[in-house]
This record gives sequence, structure tokens and C-alpha cells, in this order.
Amino acid sequence: MTKRITTVQEMHAVIRTLKKEQKQIGFVPTMGALHDGHLTMVKTSLQNNDITIVSVFVNPLQFGPNEDFDAYPRNIDSDQEKLEALETDYIFYPSVKEMYPEPLAISLKVNRMAEVLEGAKRPGHFDGVVTVVNKLFNIIRPDYAYFGKKDAQQLAIIEKMVQEFNHPIEIIGVDTIREADGLAKSSRNVYLTEQERQEAVHLYQSLTLAKEMYDAGERSSDALINAMHEHLSANTSGSIEDIAVYSYPELVEQQQVTGQIFISLAVKFSRARLIDNIILKGEKHD
Ligand code: PAF
Repeated sequence: MTKRITTVQEMHAVIRTLKKEQKQIGFVPTMGALHDGHLTMVKTSLQNNDITIVSVFVNPLQFGPNEDFDAYPRNIDSDQEKLEALETDYIFYPSVKEMYPEPLAISLKVNRMAEVLEGAKRPGHFDGVVTVVNKLFNIIRPDYAYFGKKDAQQLAIIEKMVQEFNHPIEIIGVDTIREADGLAKSSRNVYLTEQERQEAVHLYQSLTLAKEMYDAGERSSDALINAMHEHLSANTSGSIEDIAVYSYPELVEQQQVTGQIFISLAVKFSRARLIDNIILKGEKHD
């Protein structure tokens, strides 16, 4: 049975007992609307820990004023069913009031790493993410926490936060799970119209195209970006908001593919803004 816990106090009590019993705790933070991407992280945690806790919390702090906080898909009963089927131990499902009883007097701010990519497009987004993840880490005190590589910038920022704020937690990045045609699984895919859903396959195809060019020896970021741009504008009606090559996990823009880099893209459809990326391990410069 998957026990649903809604208060911080009760969660603290459960964690105290688990720690006394020396259980190894795996934690998967989510905003619900669980899909196979989340469930893969849950399965990985279940395989590697004594206890797995999944949080479901749509965090208002990480949504901008014109973003989809109200419309964000929520379905706790179906989420719970999916977690029951995997025999997950606990769901932590707090209300907004429980997590933020009053406006925060203290803020966390992500500096340089939030000034690029998604952070540049969504001011304050990563400040909201690190704030809630800090709170969740303090409430759940996991040994391992699982984050998707689809949100590569988020993963890099969380790893940095754990290092700088001395959380005794190991962060595990989990590979992006894709539909059969390559579209990365995302809770926001439900916003796509039928036509856009068909076009959305070209996001991954453009990343694959860049990888093929890279494998054939191309090292210029501009060449890869231009080819992806051409492919996307020929095949989708969405507006291309960003295609970029950054070092990973440092998040510095790169003119040439050297060292470990990721190519990221963001495309805005009528109601959905989709992101995807691919990580390439280029050879290092001397
Ligand atoms: O990746 C997400 O779903 C969210 O950003 C997270 C990590 C659960 C924090 O709200």
C-alpha cells in the first residue's frame, strides 16, 4: 500500500522512524501528472533503496505570472494508482498552505546558472525550484534523490545546490523517457493539438540530426544549430525559442563542441512550450 501523507509534521514523524530503523530512503520529487518518465525514476528508486517516497506538489513559486500554474494538469487519484501499482511506499502530497503557510521571509536565488536557457526565459523559475527542493530535502532527508535529464539545467542546478548547501544526498540523473516516435514524455504534452503532436516528433529528430552531424565530425555549434533550425522550421508550426550548445554541467555557451556539452531546444506551440536536449561527450581540448 502507498501511504499518502499531507502534513510536514506527519512526514517528519515517519522519517524519524525510518532513520531509526536505518532505512535507505530514495526520493522522487514531482509535480504530479505522472507519466512513464516519472515512473522510471520511481522504479529506479525502488530497486536501489529500502523505502521510496514520491512528492506530488505543484509549486507556485516556480511559475511566472503568465505561466500555467492554474492549468497545470493535476490528478492525484490516478497518480496514486500508478504509484500503488509499483508498490511505492509513500506519497507526500502537501497543500500550498502546508508548504508556504505565509509568504517566505527568506529567499534562495540562483545566480549565473539561472541566467541562461530556461532561466533566462523564465525569470525566478529556478529560484522557486531550489526553494521547494531545499524544503523537500529537509522534510524527507533522503539518501538518494532522482531527477530527469530532460530538465538538464534543473539537474545541474540541483547538483550545485546540494554541493554548496551541503545536503548529504546523492543526486541521480535519470535518462529521458520517450514515446515510440521519440517525443520526450512530459506532463505538458497533453496541451498539444493533434496536429502539433505529430509535428512534435521533429524536436527529437532535429537533435538526432545534430548528433549525426557531430558523429560525422562536425564541431561547430553554429553549423549544428543552423541545421536544427532549418529542420524545425520546415517541419513544425511551433515557434523556435531557443537552440543552443552549452557545456554540461557548467552551463557555459560553447562555440565549438569540446568536452561534455548539451544541445538544448525550446519550441512554443499554441498552448505548450516543449523543451528537449541531448548530451554529447566531445573530446577535451588540451
Ligand atoms: O521537475 C519538476 O517536476 C519540478 O521542478 C520539481 C523538481 C518537482 C520541483 O518542483
